[in-house]
Amino acid sequence: MTISVGITGLGAYLPERRLTNLDLEKMVETSDEWIVTRTGIKERRIAGPNESASDLGVKAAEEALKDARLTAKDIDLVIAATITPDMFFPSTACLIQHRIGADCAAFDIGAACSGFPYALAVAQGMIKSKFSKKVLVVGSEVLSKFVDWKDRSTCVLFGDGAGAAVVSEVDKDCGIIATYLGADGSQGDLLKLPAGGSLMPSTHETIDQGMHFLKMSGSEVFKVAVRSMSMAVNEVLGRAGYTIDKIDCLIPHQANYRILKAVAEHIEMPFEKVFVNVDRYGNMSSASTAVALYEAVKSGVVKKNSTVVLVSFGSGLTWASCLIKW
Ligand code: UT7
Repeated sequence: MTISVGITGLGAYLPERRLTNLDLEKMVETSDEWIVTRTGIKERRIAGPNESASDLGVKAAEEALKDARLTAKDIDLVIAATITPDMFFPSTACLIQHRIGADCAAFDIGAACSGFPYALAVAQGMIKSKFSKKVLVVGSEVLSKFVDWKDRSTCVLFGDGAGAAVVSEVDKDCGIIATYLGADGSQGDLLKLPAGGSLMPSTHETIDQGMHFLKMSGSEVFKVAVRSMSMAVNEVLGRAGYTIDKIDCLIPHQANYRILKAVAEHIEMPFEKVFVNVDRYGNMSSASTAVALYEAVKSGVVKKNSTVVLVSFGSGLTWASCLIKW
């Protein structure tokens, strides 16, 4: 008998500190006008000096557990999606597992901004194969500690935050209907953090050259983002035999307002159906779709029986989509 798997609890955590475009004007040569017209971002959240990805993730996870009316002891797998882990190892998932008081398997997933839908697909597979019953998926990022605050082409784009979802068996007529994951490693150079790994271990030189900061070829990434997110939406709809008019809400990765507009045009979806919060948080990588889904549900935009598509794109390059009947 096939099992239906869906999201039964959601949580989010955004650090208190807001960094506005006006603040950025005092830090690099930029303007509120440039940032708003080129990206749609007005402000982003910044974690405190002692706040890490697991700190943010724990807060989002605790809310998701409460929302699902579960305790940490009910969870049998923790998956954390992050490109800004507390450290290389132990995994951020293990740190979260310990701090929430769960007693189960835990691992991180490395799919950058596509991490949340990637992790949802893995959670669905683990439940369908009966390895797990209740999976906690967390997307948590502290990108502010990995951007070069002297590089105006990247530092205005990113923000910190976390979202979490409890994934478990649901009624037959709802849940995750289809997923689609993709990657193209040949384009990995377009968006990367070059140093600190086994290829380029940390040295004084790598630090002096700023190689521990995120590097991005913005305009190339822009084009692939539009192409791959549009393709990923069409692919997941095709897999489920759905057409775009059956979708009530698109929850895309929040990298740039212009990307969202272009994707909506490509897939011929009215822009009113696209959930947007990039203006308030910027690009939070794996936390973007998690927080956007949380806000869409909590504000009533997504409700019982809504049909939702999550779609994301990021470093790797990776892309992912997930069709859900709420
Ligand atoms: O989550 C992973 C996915 N990431 C993305 O999807 C990001 C995709 N890329 C983008 O969103 C856009 O490419 C950016 C927002 C990064 C850049 O927008 P753009 O329209 O592609 O601008 P550009 O890179 O072509 O730069 C245009 C100009 C340049 O000046 P010149 O060379 O034309 O004189 C830049 O130096 O804008 C300049 N510029 C800025 N000016 C003021 C770049 N950053 C800034 C800035 N303030 N912050």
